[in-house]
Amino acid sequence: MAKFLILHGPNLNLLGQREPEHYGQVTLAEIDQRLADLAAARGHHTEHLQSNSETVLVERIQEAPRQDVSFILINPAAFTHTSVAIRDALAAVAIPFIEVHLSNVHAREAFRRQSYFSDLAVGVVVGFGRRSYEMALEAAIDHVTQGTA
Ligand code: DQA
Repeated sequence: MAKFLILHGPNLNLLGQREPEHYGQVTLAEIDQRLADLAAARGHHTEHLQSNSETVLVERIQEAPRQDVSFILINPAAFTHTSVAIRDALAAVAIPFIEVHLSNVHAREAFRRQSYFSDLAVGVVVGFGRRSYEMALEAAIDHVTQGTA
């Protein structure tokens, strides 16, 4: 059994009410439950954290090696475009990760095309709403169990 850490950045606690034209109607609790169920169906386990704080996300990533996390899925949200600190934490722990976005960040404002994460990530899934997370988890499980993304 592998452990997958699912990290959600700022304002994703507001999913369901927040800009539904970009992020849909789904709530974060529904996304997390679906990911937990998908992982369990394949014999794996997920842990979930949403934070509006860069510090909390950095500290959780630093703890991940001691907690036997095999893989990280992260939607850094607005921190995607700003956070060298979260990028450096992921590089420091050297746990493979996939960057996830609900919306197609390439079809929005120009500043959203800049990511501090994509070049370190195993892969990036953008633009499929809740399915972005599900596709990322499927790929992450394959990566851990078969060594392929
Ligand atoms: C987002 C895209 C980011 O640009 C934005 O700041 C978010 C959500 C997404 O999932 O589409 O908060 O990461």
